[in-house]
Amino acid sequence: MTTMPGLRIRWLLKAILPVAAVLVGGVAVFLWVSFSLAIPEWRTVLLVAAGGAVAICCVMLVALVVLIQRPILELQEKIARLQEGDLTVQASFAGRRDEIGDLGRHFNEMVAQLRQRREETHRVHQAEMSRAEHLATLGELAAGLAHELRNPLAGIAGVVEVLGQELPETSPSREIWKEVRLEIQQIQKILNDLLEYARPRPLQFLLADLNATAEQALHLARQQVRSRPIIIEFVRDSRLPLVEHDASQIQQLLLNLLLNAVQAIEAEGRIEMRIESQNHLAMVSVTDTGRGIDPSHLPSLFRPFFTTKGQGTGLGLSLAQRIAEGHGGSIEVSSVLGKGSRFVLRVPFRKRPAAAAAAGVK
Ligand SMILES: Nc1ncnc2c1ncn2[C@@H]1O[C@H](COP(=O)(O)OP(=O)(O)O)[C@@H](O)[C@H]1O
Ligand SMILES: [Mg+2]
Repeated sequence: MTTMPGLRIRWLLKAILPVAAVLVGGVAVFLWVSFSLAIPEWRTVLLVAAGGAVAICCVMLVALVVLIQRPILELQEKIARLQEGDLTVQASFAGRRDEIGDLGRHFNEMVAQLRQRREETHRVHQAEMSRAEHLATLGELAAGLAHELRNPLAGIAGVVEVLGQELPETSPSREIWKEVRLEIQQIQKILNDLLEYARPRPLQFLLADLNATAEQALHLARQQVRSRPIIIEFVRDSRLPLVEHDASQIQQLLLNLLLNAVQAIEAEGRIEMRIESQNHLAMVSVTDTGRGIDPSHLPSLFRPFFTTKGQGTGLGLSLAQRIAEGHGGSIEVSSVLGKGSRFVLRVPFRKRPAAAAAAGVK
């Protein structure tokens, strides 16, 4: 903050001026009273009284300087050091048992809190860094492993397929064969999800119709529920402008949300996918009448490998979130246990400059 230089008056001067005015006024009153009452010794009395008053004023001013000016100057100097980042400063007058002492104690408490917060932030930052490093190493390891396993597994799948076809239609081993085939498909899905998570493809942005992208995801999801009493409805927004997005990855994201919705419905139910727009953002919501989400699970929902399903990989939502963030968008969830859940994807019509630069697209 700046003050106009001409208006700045030191507090000491401000204190002296009224005192001097009172002294001069007092002398004038004294002279007037002396003359009206014709006091003979008026000179001596005036000298003694004025000398006494001046002495009292001087003592008061010195006391003010010692009691107030010094702590204020010290506080100014400590605040300047605090601004430079020195969090070890302490007001030395905090031990005083008066209002100035209170000020010092409050200042010291504030500095202690600041210090504590800085240490906490530092600790959290350190922990996050080492967690990120740990995850990066684990991710590399897992991706490498998944990559190595994929080829032999494809070989096994091929052999199993051939063996199965050679089994007679009536053979009791056919059921076992079908089960083995399903298990292999499940392992392949886990490996693919893992690889996609660990080595994401760069986003390829194009101006395109988000309604069409959503419809493709819907088409794939409907194929999964053909034999089940689940209705999937789609409410398109025909006035939606073109949205800059990676159609194949947004389709993957919406398919993940739709399949989660399907898997959350035990018997019959309804899923609605709705597209709307709001302030330069396209919104795609997927609402289901499934089992809902336990509130204690909400903070972990988007974490990789968090799953409540026996057959789940726990990677669907974390992948979805990463794709949304890559578009400069977000995913939000709301849910009522036993009633259903709603996931809302928000994507800006045009990606932000930062996202554009990261994707290397003009
Ligand atoms: N629509 C939904 N209704 C209820 N629970 C859901 C829904 N979507 C996600 N979840 C919960 O979030 C978890 C994580 O989802 P996800 O990351 O897709 O992994 P996965 O589907 O492999 O379990 C699921 O296991 C489930 O508990
Ligand atoms: Mg899923």
